[in-house]
Amino acid sequence: MTLSLETRDLTIRFGGHVAVNNVSCTFRPGELTAIVGPNGAGKTTYFNLISGQLRASSGSILFDGTDITQHSAPLRTRAGLGRAFQLTNLFPNLTVEENVRLAVQAANGTHYDMLQPWMVRRDLIARADAILDQVALGGRRGVAATALSHGDQRKLEVALMIALEPKVFMFDEPTAGMSIDEVPVVLNLIAQLKQDRSKIILLVEHKMDVVRSLADRIIVLHNGQLVADGVPAEVIASPIVQEAYLGIAPKSAA
Ligand SMILES: Nc1ncnc2c1ncn2[C@@H]1O[C@H](COP(=O)(O)OP(=O)(O)O)[C@@H](O)[C@H]1O
Ligand SMILES: [Mg+2]
Repeated sequence: MTLSLETRDLTIRFGGHVAVNNVSCTFRPGELTAIVGPNGAGKTTYFNLISGQLRASSGSILFDGTDITQHSAPLRTRAGLGRAFQLTNLFPNLTVEENVRLAVQAANGTHYDMLQPWMVRRDLIARADAILDQVALGGRRGVAATALSHGDQRKLEVALMIALEPKVFMFDEPTAGMSIDEVPVVLNLIAQLKQDRSKIILLVEHKMDVVRSLADRIIVLHNGQLVADGVPAEVIASPIVQEAYLGIAPKSAA
């Protein structure tokens, strides 16, 4: 069966606050869905529910034909849900190159072996090199992960996600805090990933020009609820987005 990711009435409450409220949505391969909405709308929380960092209060998540609602985050990663790593989970004192190689190795199920160190796995080394070039970190390969600029750290997060060869890519504001010249690198990368029509890509992004150029579909979250879902032109033009998200008064009021 074809890959699909679906949330059904997905809900999480923090005390009395419903951060994600009955969100039902199906994501399909070959489709990049942008998730937009004001700050505090529940976008990151929705991602955390899908990737398993948070457990749902109610509702369910179906991935590739399996109900994964109760699965741990590592289990979901192994099943192919790719969430950009938090760099705190990495090896901060290892170099950029070493981190990417370890991720490639993990994806290939190769464990450290005294008799056959990864240095001899030329295919894995080549794969890590290709990923470093893909995210434009080739020139920073020897630098400790912690010594990277903020923008380069974001690129490394993306590199590690690519290394795991997920079926679903989740980007939560991937260009946040990046300098102007770094933004296109990440956007081109996402556009490149889109070429592989077998993947599902979810992107939380504030910049509407970015959303417009990359998204096949936009969903809008507002107060934890899904309030719009459709092709970019339609959703961007909808009154709910113009008012609630962009803060623009409807045309008729002008
Ligand atoms: N772990 C948590 N505990 C309590 N409240 C949370 C937690 N995580 C998120 N929230 C709240 O849930 C709401 C949605 O947050 P978030 O998903 O980060 O929004 P967004 O990513 O759309 O800006 C916010 O009101 C936020 O304060
Ligand atoms: Mg967020």
